[in-house]
Order: sequence, then C-alpha cells, then structure tokens
Amino acid sequence: MANVVIIGAQWGDEGKGKVVDIYTEHAQQVVRYQGGNNAGHTLVVGDETIVLHLIPSGILHPGKRCIIGNGVVLDPKIFLGEIEGLKKRGYMQDDSQLVVDSNLHVIMPWHKAIDLAREKHADRKIGTTGRGIGPTYEDKVGRRGIRMSDLVKPQVFRRKLKEILPEKNFLLENFFGEAPLDEEQIFAEYSGYAQQIEKYIGCCSRSLNKAIEEGANLLFEGAQGTLLDIDHGTYPYVTSSSTCIGGVCTGSGVAARHINSVIGITKAYCTRVGGGPFPTELDWETPGTVGYHLSTVGAEKGVTTGRSRRCGWFDAALLKRSAQVNGLSGLCITKLDVLDGLKELKICVGYELDGEQTDILPMGADDISRCVPIYETM
Ligand code: IMO
Ligand code: MG
Repeated sequence: MANVVIIGAQWGDEGKGKVVDIYTEHAQQVVRYQGGNNAGHTLVVGDETIVLHLIPSGILHPGKRCIIGNGVVLDPKIFLGEIEGLKKRGYMQDDSQLVVDSNLHVIMPWHKAIDLAREKHADRKIGTTGRGIGPTYEDKVGRRGIRMSDLVKPQVFRRKLKEILPEKNFLLENFFGEAPLDEEQIFAEYSGYAQQIEKYIGCCSRSLNKAIEEGANLLFEGAQGTLLDIDHGTYPYVTSSSTCIGGVCTGSGVAARHINSVIGITKAYCTRVGGGPFPTELDWETPGTVGYHLSTVGAEKGVTTGRSRRCGWFDAALLKRSAQVNGLSGLCITKLDVLDGLKELKICVGYELDGEQTDILPMGADDISRCVPIYETM
C-alpha cells in the first residue's frame, strides 16, 4: 500500500477513524501529525465502542507502532488517561508501541483557561472544543510554547513557567476577569505527568524515515477536516492546525515525495460542529424535515463535546476545493445508508456569489456566507 494519508474532506467527523482502522491492517506505523484532543475518532470493535482523541487508532492492533508527531499538541492528562483506558481494556500491552515526538507542544492549563475565556467573552463565537488547541498553537508560533522535551527537564520547565505564567495570569485576571493559575501547583502536577510520559518520547521524523528506508508502509491519520484548516478552511471558523496535506510533512518530518496516496473521507451529506458558514445547511431541529432525518438517523452528535452537529446536503463544490487542495487520489464516501428513506436527494454543484456562478467553494468565511447553493435534484 506504500504511504497513505487519510484526510477529512469536509468539516471533520467524516468517519476517518473507521477508514484508518481498515488501512491499519496493511501498515506498520500509524501517525497523527496535527491537532490534539479536539479530535474524536470512534471505533467499533466487536460489540465494544472505543473513542480515541489523541492516540492513533492503530493502537488497537498489537504490533503496529503508533506515533504522535511533532505537529500535534498534547494534553498530558488526557494522553495518560487514554493509555490507562486502553490498557484496562487489554490493548497496548507493550509500551514500545507508542512514540511521542519530543518537539511537540504541550497543552498547558493556561491554554485551556484562555480558550474557554475567549469563547465566553467573544461576540463572534468560533465554538471551539475548549481543549486549549488554538492558544497552544498560538504560543508555538509565537515561540513561547513548552515542548515535550522541556517538560521532562525540571530546570528548563521551571524556567519556562517563570517566563510564561506571569503574562498568562495578567491576561486571565486583568482582561478576562478569571482566576490566576498557581505556578507551584502546575509545576508539581505537570512534572508528575512528564515522569510518566518520558518512556514514550522519541523522534518521530527519524523513526519514520528509518521505517521508510526499511520498506515499511506508513499510514497518516488526519484529524479534523479540510474546511477546518487554518489556511484553506472557512477562516476564522477553523481549527488552528494544518489539517490539509501540507500538515503531513511539517507535522511528522517526512518529505512530500514519500507520500504515495491521499484518501479523502466524506460523508454522503455534510455536518459541522461549532460556528461558521455552511452553505447547504438544512433545518435539522424540526421533526419531519430532511435535516432532522440526517441528524437523527445519522446520530450526529459530537463525540468530543457532545454537541449536536449541524446537518445539510452533500456539497460537491466544497469537495472540489478539498480534492484540489489535498491532491486527493482516492475518495471514501461514508454514511450513504443514512440517505435511505429520503424521497428526494439534492447535491450542491456550485453557488451564486454576488451575481456570478462558481463551481468551487470560495475561500474565507465572508465569501462563503454569501454563497447561495445551486442544487441538482434526483
Ligand atoms: P475530528 O477529528 C469536528 C471544530 C470545533 C470548532 C473549530 C475550532 O473528530 O473530525 P478547536 O477546539 O479545534 O479550536 O475548535 O473546529 N472541530 C471539529 N469539528 N470534528 C473535529 O475533529 C473537530 N475538531 C475541532 O467544533 O468549530
Ligand atoms: Mg470526530
């Protein structure tokens, strides 16, 4: 199968976990390269349902090495909780199955506090998952983040806490009116996590490139979806990472020429959680409507935050954008069976935008919010 990337072609929740699970059989290493525990990948194994937010779903297959790449942001408490849950259920009996890159950025308590405070105070809410994802990536780009390699060195961690925390507390207390965070408590708690995580730390890029030299098949497990990409999505209603193909290289240290195929995952209709434009959105709350059918038959509730997902018709013009940006070489359409029982199906094939027609989703939330869908009915 060579090296395959699985990418969400819509706004996330396309059923990536299921497809990753199928491909994992043919891969030796499974890699997460962006996002964090804002993702929620549901896997059904026999009569067991397992939800993973951070650890690649390949972990359910003994002998498959799972890598959390440098492009991911990691919440140590969630990470350790996920490992504990897996071990309890008989998975991940061998610790060497999991590698965490030393350069990835750690989600700290202030990131979560600022994420929640911003959403609470914002007029135009993004509807984030509140997991601290955006603020952690902000600090990464702002060169004031804490990497995993910093967390495991007590002196470095202490120095960084002293540098960073006063600014965060100033913001929390004086701008947002929230409680400040305590340096000693954070140091003790996160040093404890670091000790437990140390055995998993390695170099993602080196490990993957060695595997490539040895002829292994790699599987890259995308989180979120193309329209949530920080550059190519419905900005500002996006997540803070590169969810598109470009994120694979920057988030794992594997060169583009090693990527052999890119599989886009799309539902047979559209869903979106959180705020932002959604041209083909239907009324999904009123019983008896098509939207309600999609919402209920499709069981469209987010597995990370439990929020209802907004639902609408399939959007081919949006998919065209995803296919272009990612260079999709294959497509997997999920949840076709949810359309069973609908008398009429509509597919959006383009939009009217400011008096002109276009057959591809424009960029940016403002243009997208003015798009009036053009449908083909069948
Ligand atoms: P998976 O991997 C669907 C959405 C949030 C919000 C926006 C920004 O399960 O497909 P963030 O917390 O990332 O800053 O929130 O992105 N979002 C997702 N929507 N599936 C996901 O992941 C998502 N991860 C983030 O609802 O609108
Ligand atoms: Mg999900």
